[in-house]
Amino acid sequence: MSDRYCVFGNPIGHSRSPAIHAAFAAQCRQDLIYEAILAPRDGFVDAVRSFVAGSGRGANVTVPFKEEACLLANRLTDRAKVAGAVNTLVFDGAGMLGDNTDGYGLLRDLTLNLGYQAAGKRVLLLGAGGAARGVIGPLLDTRPAALVVANRTADRARDLAQRLPVTTSLRGCDYAELAGQSFDLVINATSASLGGQLPPLPKGIFAADSLAYDMMYGQGQTPFLVFAGSQGVARLADGLGMLVEQAAEAFRIWRGIRPDTKPVMAMLRVAEAATSATR
Ligand code: ATR
Repeated sequence: MSDRYCVFGNPIGHSRSPAIHAAFAAQCRQDLIYEAILAPRDGFVDAVRSFVAGSGRGANVTVPFKEEACLLANRLTDRAKVAGAVNTLVFDGAGMLGDNTDGYGLLRDLTLNLGYQAAGKRVLLLGAGGAARGVIGPLLDTRPAALVVANRTADRARDLAQRLPVTTSLRGCDYAELAGQSFDLVINATSASLGGQLPPLPKGIFAADSLAYDMMYGQGQTPFLVFAGSQGVARLADGLGMLVEQAAEAFRIWRGIRPDTKPVMAMLRVAEAATSATR
């Protein structure tokens, strides 16, 4: 019988994870089934338990269950502890291991796919929710010259900055405080793009030759990337590469093999283009 994996979320209908993991499994000749499971908002724990009882071997977890998964796991990796959120679960004889591959996925996309090194750069992280928490540890590990976390609710940004060991110039602020500053790398980890919105960013935050990165992806450019383009930023990236890289890291944890992500990213880009063309 094939090994079973899944992704839990709500909503989950538009998840690309089943297609990504099916492609990885075919490429790496792994006999597994990966499905998307819509868990009720108040029924995540029951959904996980019934998946485990049905011989589930591992799972990804997406919005809105990443914090709950962190509480449910009986062991956590260091990166999951820093994030306070779990996107990958491993079910084994010792129970449930919780990990977080989001930050690793972002860094792989930046360094390998986009050829960008954050070391020594001025980095701005927008947002202080779960998505920002998932990537801030690995971002700090790259030793940027400065890492500023800006959020609509400034206290959340300050709290997030204060929770981490200070290895670099790290601070939290609101958007207005960004006026007069510029950054080499600006990462949008807010959920504003989901609602077609843009955080209230002052003009001039992008340094010459900066990279604007939106952790969201979808049809066409997000409002954040449109804004960056209008500010003269030439290097724009959405979160599709990060999505595939975080999935590859989860696959490696489960199966002990790292898939080649390039053909899978290309497959998803083609699928996006085909969907756009039929609209
Ligand atoms: P997630 O787990 O996806 O990060 P979250 O914890 O609800 O979700 O956090 C959402 C983030 O997006 C927060 O930083 C939120 O700002 P607040 O903390 O001030 O609420 C940010 N966000 C959502 N919509 C936004 C908008 N329209 N403009 C600016 N920031 C927004």
